[in-house]
Amino acid sequence: MTQPLKIAIAGLGTVGTGAVKILQTNKDAITARSGRPVVVTAVADLDKKRDRGIDLSGITWFDDAAAMVATADIDVYVELIGGAEGIARKTVEAALARKIHVVTANKALLAHHGVALAKTAEAVGITLAFEAAVGGGIPIIKALREGLAANTISRITGILNGTCNYILTTMRNTGRDFADVLKEAQELGYAESDPTFDIDGIDTAHKLAILTSLAFGTQVDIKSVHAEGIRHISALDIQYAEEFGYRIRLLGLAERDKKTGGIVQRVYPCLITSDQPLAGVEGVFNAIVAEGDFVGRSVYEGRGAGAGPAASAVIADVVDIAAGRRTPTFGIPATQLKALPSVSLDQHVGEYYVRLLVVDRPGVLADIAGAFRDEAVSMESVLQRGKTENANVNIVIITHETQESNLLRALKRLKANAALVEPPHMMRIENLG
Ligand code: HSE
Repeated sequence: MTQPLKIAIAGLGTVGTGAVKILQTNKDAITARSGRPVVVTAVADLDKKRDRGIDLSGITWFDDAAAMVATADIDVYVELIGGAEGIARKTVEAALARKIHVVTANKALLAHHGVALAKTAEAVGITLAFEAAVGGGIPIIKALREGLAANTISRITGILNGTCNYILTTMRNTGRDFADVLKEAQELGYAESDPTFDIDGIDTAHKLAILTSLAFGTQVDIKSVHAEGIRHISALDIQYAEEFGYRIRLLGLAERDKKTGGIVQRVYPCLITSDQPLAGVEGVFNAIVAEGDFVGRSVYEGRGAGAGPAASAVIADVVDIAAGRRTPTFGIPATQLKALPSVSLDQHVGEYYVRLLVVDRPGVLADIAGAFRDEAVSMESVLQRGKTENANVNIVIITHETQESNLLRALKRLKANAALVEPPHMMRIENLG
């Protein structure tokens, strides 16, 4: 009989437990697709007592992942600890040094050290696989690396964080506030251990940096990603956006910059028209739109977080290794990935949503119009609704296309105006064509 593939899993939390469960539940199909049995021979986690509802008999338990990687007789190391540094990085490097294949869901590690790790793995002919790092259960890594290999990609746009999408869509559907919905997302197991990574756009930035490398053949470059999060989005903004025919989504966008030849990578909450495919993506779902010169636009959607989807992606990588399928980590040899200039958002040209909470008195609207006029920002629509409880009023403006630096200068002028009750709220409008 063919030798089984022996795997060790570090981190028996939501995803690790899910991975063991899939291997036990779908054993026959996975064996058939792998061409040999896949067995978990070792696991590492600090908490041995918790009942995870899985059968761990016959599996060697380690409290220390580093000891497991150093001593266990294994073919594949599945790293589900997380974090760009520390034990995750140390054990992945140790596994590669021992010529043990690595499967990881660790987007932070890949965003920060992906190129170096890929070079190490490729130099010794070992796989470093990370389908679970982006888009949860959506096979987007494989799609970009293999399925779209014939195309020149012009743009990648994605909803890449399940927690944020869950928060934004639940806020819209229920009118509940941000903190309350965040707590629920954490309880459902969607959020990172440190939820600031989700809500400040950092998790999306990590994932976008990885997709950019695969799509454009560039070195993973997290430092070039402009990232903003969703903490400041209020139910009011969601409601006003709706009135203008938009939905708010936290997007990651990467596209080639015609002027510099570099890649613009940006993450922020933005308004998109409600007829866009990404506007219909609700809850914990993720979706990625890839635009290629021959394939046109293709859309990939699925659950972006949670035990089942992430574990499904982890095991897909394990099956590839078992079956002997291997490609360069980021689609082309890591030594050939290009370093391109980063592009600043100052030069960004687009339409904008601005909400200003102001004291309701004569001349305020004229002051606002004056600041926009002085910085050559043209308004497309203005909306003002009755007074709020404190006799203040919200004025919402949609601009025509303008350069971001002009709008920022106009908002700076307005900040000095005594009629402004709080700093302006600004969001970009993305025309996804
Ligand atoms: N915290 C992540 C999310 C989990 O909410 O999408 C998957 O990376």
